[in-house]
Amino acid sequence: MLATAVSAAVAAGESLRSHFRKQISVQTKSLANFVSEADMTAERLIVDAVRDSYPEHAVLAEEGHHELSDADHLWVIDPLDGTSNFLHGIPHFAVSIAYLYCGQAEVGVIYSPISDDWFYAVRGQGAWQNGERLSVNQESQLADTMVAIGFYYDRGRMMEATLEAIGDLFRQNVHGIRRFGAAALDLAQVARGDYGVFMEFNLQPWDHAAGALMVHEAGGRVTDCRDQSLPAQQPSSLLATNSLLHNAALAIAKPRFESITKSNDSSP
Ligand code: IPD
Ligand code: CA
Ligand code: CA
Repeated sequence: MLATAVSAAVAAGESLRSHFRKQISVQTKSLANFVSEADMTAERLIVDAVRDSYPEHAVLAEEGHHELSDADHLWVIDPLDGTSNFLHGIPHFAVSIAYLYCGQAEVGVIYSPISDDWFYAVRGQGAWQNGERLSVNQESQLADTMVAIGFYYDRGRMMEATLEAIGDLFRQNVHGIRRFGAAALDLAQVARGDYGVFMEFNLQPWDHAAGALMVHEAGGRVTDCRDQSLPAQQPSSLLATNSLLHNAALAIAKPRFESITKSNDSSP
């Protein structure tokens, strides 16, 4: 499975590099949420590679392969995580591929084609970047850590709640807050120990399937913002930490996340 995920990511990465900073066709999915020719081509290459090796497996991929099912064998794919960066010529984006058995991620690969960084994890065996073992940092106070945040495409209550959480984190004197725009890489960076905390109030399974396994295998913890386990095939909030900071981060993430659903504003 790891070999299949890697060769699929090689093909997708090559295609993304060839489209990067070129004129390509782009469509708008929703406000500030785009899909391009590059996303579609990369997805087709990955799905073809998976189907060649495992024709009987199901595929859940962002741009059109939504085989939502109770299949034992499921591949969860984001062909281009960080589309906005890609479309603005910012070289921070990645391919994310996970293989799930009975709803649990067994293999995860995240490939950043411009920096040529490979992140991969196998359940029970660990997580690596380019052959080096990854482990989360040991920071135990919010005041000692760097935090990554993601914003969903919402420009309503969810955006406000995310900004409020950022205020809360600064009031705890975190070293800084980073928003680099590719959730898969944010998670890989929690696994590497760059961030003690990463949170986002709405992510899709393809954004986190590989990265959450990486954090787990590097010794960290991943839940939703109510401290529940992440659903394998549904959107959810996400809180990933080095474990030591989970409760402190949850004390901020949970009330801010819950304020979205309690609000009268019906935006997502
Ligand atoms: C997005 C990125 C971004 C996150 C968004 C995601 P996409 O994925 O991961 O960092 O904040 O919520 O949708 O659309 O570039 O694949
Ligand atoms: Ca994504
Ligand atoms: Ca994507």
